[in-house]
Amino acid sequence: MERVTVVGSGLMGKGIAYSCAISGYTVYLNDINEEVLHRAEKDITHLLENSLEKGYLSEEAYQHATANIHYEVDLETAAKGSGLVIEAVLEKMDLKIDIFKKLDKICKPDTILATNTSTMSPTEIGAQTSRPDRVVAMHFFNPVHKMKLIEVIRGLETSDETVAFVKELASYLNKEAVEVNEFPGFVTSRMNCLIGNEAMNMLMEGVASAEDIDKALKLGLNHPMGPLELADLVGLDTRLRNMEYLYETLGEKYRPCPLLVKYVKAGRLGKKSGKGFFEYR
Ligand SMILES: NC(=O)c1ccc[n+]([C@@H]2O[C@H](COP(=O)([O-])OP(=O)(O)OC[C@H]3O[C@@H](n4cnc5c(N)ncnc54)[C@H](O)[C@@H]3O)[C@@H](O)[C@H]2O)c1
Repeated sequence: MERVTVVGSGLMGKGIAYSCAISGYTVYLNDINEEVLHRAEKDITHLLENSLEKGYLSEEAYQHATANIHYEVDLETAAKGSGLVIEAVLEKMDLKIDIFKKLDKICKPDTILATNTSTMSPTEIGAQTSRPDRVVAMHFFNPVHKMKLIEVIRGLETSDETVAFVKELASYLNKEAVEVNEFPGFVTSRMNCLIGNEAMNMLMEGVASAEDIDKALKLGLNHPMGPLELADLVGLDTRLRNMEYLYETLGEKYRPCPLLVKYVKAGRLGKKSGKGFFEYR
């Protein structure tokens, strides 16, 4: 497998494209229009230059990645010749299913279709295709170029070969994989969303300031990042969609904190909008 397609060039799609390209793959990155893709190209180029400058990347990997990421607005051109497609669009089931149905028609029968969903069901997505055995979730973490883990989620019909293929790919990307049987939120999002939501509830109740809640978890519980800072990094709109799905599937424990709902309504989406629980320049 030499060619990978990434659908969605937002926070995660850019990182996945970068990681695949520096590991020697030819990457086709797809999004809805040229403007979004142009922004993604600027960010990826900046990351590549920065990594080269700091010595994290060899000149060879830099050159390969620069020459081998293609920014393509037409889904068919982007996906047709690839052995693997990784979808990283918004966390909306209807949208993901629509894309997988299109990919199923466009791609070769043996192409593996993966979703980077944080919470949703690869079984449900796979059932809408003619190849549920070749549909799997590959849950990357943010920022992709720094985070070591890929959670591999096996849907009901996902084959052993598909799981083995994506686990092997994880090692080529210099990442570690864990295998999880499908359940809403998998291991990491289920845990992380609950901690983040509790921190937001504490902030809303006036238990402590955002700074002190994060400091308490970092210095007292040895978390590398505070839960509010982490939610800002993920994007509060994305986090709210994750919470809504978990609330729908797992119940009351996951009811989204009203403060999170209010922030999203106000356009305070976290780091990407300049303001969330904290402010960013
Ligand atoms: N943000 C995180 O920290 C994080 C971590 C792990 C997994 N995820 C998951 O990754 C996925 C993407 O999240 P994100 O944070 O990168 O979102 P994002 O909002 O930054 O990016 C989503 C991208 O999808 C594009 N898109 C929308 N419709 C499309 C279509 N029909 N075809 C092609 N592109 C389309 C948008 O234009 C946008 O560029 C979600 O499922 C999310 O739950 C996010």
